[in-house]
Amino acid sequence: MHFQDCLFITAGTHGCVVKARDADEGRSVCIKLFRQRWIESFNQEKTAYELLKLAGVEDCIPDVYGYDCRTLVGWGLVEEGEDASDDLYYGIVMEWLEGGEQVSIDNINLDNACKFIKGLNEIHGAGVLHDDLYLRNIMVLPRSNRAVFVDFSCAQVSDKFTWEFDIIIRTILSLVLRPFFMADRL
Ligand SMILES: Nc1ncnc2c1ncn2[C@@H]1O[C@H](COP(=O)(O)OP(=O)(O)O)[C@@H](O)[C@H]1O
Ligand SMILES: [Mg+2]
Repeated sequence: MHFQDCLFITAGTHGCVVKARDADEGRSVCIKLFRQRWIESFNQEKTAYELLKLAGVEDCIPDVYGYDCRTLVGWGLVEEGEDASDDLYYGIVMEWLEGGEQVSIDNINLDNACKFIKGLNEIHGAGVLHDDLYLRNIMVLPRSNRAVFVDFSCAQVSDKFTWEFDIIIRTILSLVLRPFFMADRL
């Protein structure tokens, strides 16, 4: 894979998220980069996406194109010749969710909320517990009303966990209580 026009989107403790152009395929991609010391989280997210893909889950997760490991120079995030870190970064290369917005009380509606519940059900059905289900990790695409779950770096894979943890606790906290408190400030 050859990436061009890398654009920094967010920084997290694990590394960063960038938008880039995949020169081979001629498409925009989102690359989630993990520092080498966060390889456990990279593996957790990779395992979850692999399992979900295998189970045929799509639409409610980004399409994942591949995985790769390079230095920041290799990702095109620093100019060649600059004194950049030699650290290795592990990347999950996925679909760029064009026009995607983090879900909020401004963009949630009956259509995307139904897709959200259906998607979460499919994810659980594949044996994956997201386990980091906050508003910032759910994106909606306004034109298609697609609801997409991102950030599976805390995901657990098992057929023994209790589904209720994701659904009841996180959903109540994120989707019911937070908008309720936020509405107070509007
Ligand atoms: N495939 C994607 N397309 C567009 N934006 C994305 C995509 N994946 C993540 N993002 C944006 O980057 C942010 C951080 O991504 P996330 O996977 O949650 O990383 P972190 O572990 O740093 O929270 C998301 O909240 C979202 O705004
Ligand atoms: Mg996140």
